[in-house]
Amino acid sequence: MSRRPVIAGNWKMHKLQSESAELANAVMKELKEIDKALLPEVVIAPVFTSLYAVNKALTDCGCGKVKMAAQNAYFETQGAFTGEVSVEMVKDAGAEYVIIGHSERRQYFGETDEMINKKAKKILDLGLIPIICCGESLEQREAGVTDSHIESQIKAALNGLSAEEVAKSIIAYEPIWAIGTGKTCDSDEANRVIGMIRNVVKGIAGANAADSIRILYGGSVKPNTIEEQMSKSDIDGALVGGASLTAESFGQIVKGAMKQTV
Ligand code: PGA
Repeated sequence: MSRRPVIAGNWKMHKLQSESAELANAVMKELKEIDKALLPEVVIAPVFTSLYAVNKALTDCGCGKVKMAAQNAYFETQGAFTGEVSVEMVKDAGAEYVIIGHSERRQYFGETDEMINKKAKKILDLGLIPIICCGESLEQREAGVTDSHIESQIKAALNGLSAEEVAKSIIAYEPIWAIGTGKTCDSDEANRVIGMIRNVVKGIAGANAADSIRILYGGSVKPNTIEEQMSKSDIDGALVGGASLTAESFGQIVKGAMKQTV
């Protein structure tokens, strides 16, 4: 089964509305010459306050080459949850994907496996696609518990989802020690862990779902790392942080991914 690659840019807490729209336009310009059918699924994730502006830029262009994700969303529809934004609300603003369980949210904002599971269910219920992040810390890697830790994150995140829902979801394996550090995980090792994740998915949701689900690598992905990463059997794309903040480097990553898949 051939899985369509995904290159997703996580802009984190960067950019005002006008800057976000400008970057979205610049990304589309980078991809202008490329036939849409040949592109990977290209996704950009601005901050909440820029969702409207980015969606407007993407729809005004009408090229359909770039989709939008929110970086988070809450699982309740509405109510007394000061400071939260619901999945309905990010959908209303034009998001088609939602990143959940990013290690920064787990670490700084107390996001738990249980919350991530509730968010995944809500996102899928509303017809959006969750990008579920998992990954080990340096301490966990050194203690030899990488695989067991990730297995428990994945089992918790996917708990109670149907095989069809699992198949539609996206997972991003992001070793915490590789995020924003310039230290990418060796691509064979990333491929091994991603293969392990696929096997866990197979145990939960069956072979078809395991074959269909896209599993990305994230952590210091750069234009000069993507080709090798995409050459690996189980790596279906990338979740890109720092290098997604300029259209040039993000465009190079998209084009680098294509070299391996076209
Ligand atoms: P990075 O971030 O590419 O800057 O390492 C990746 C991520 O946190 O999604």
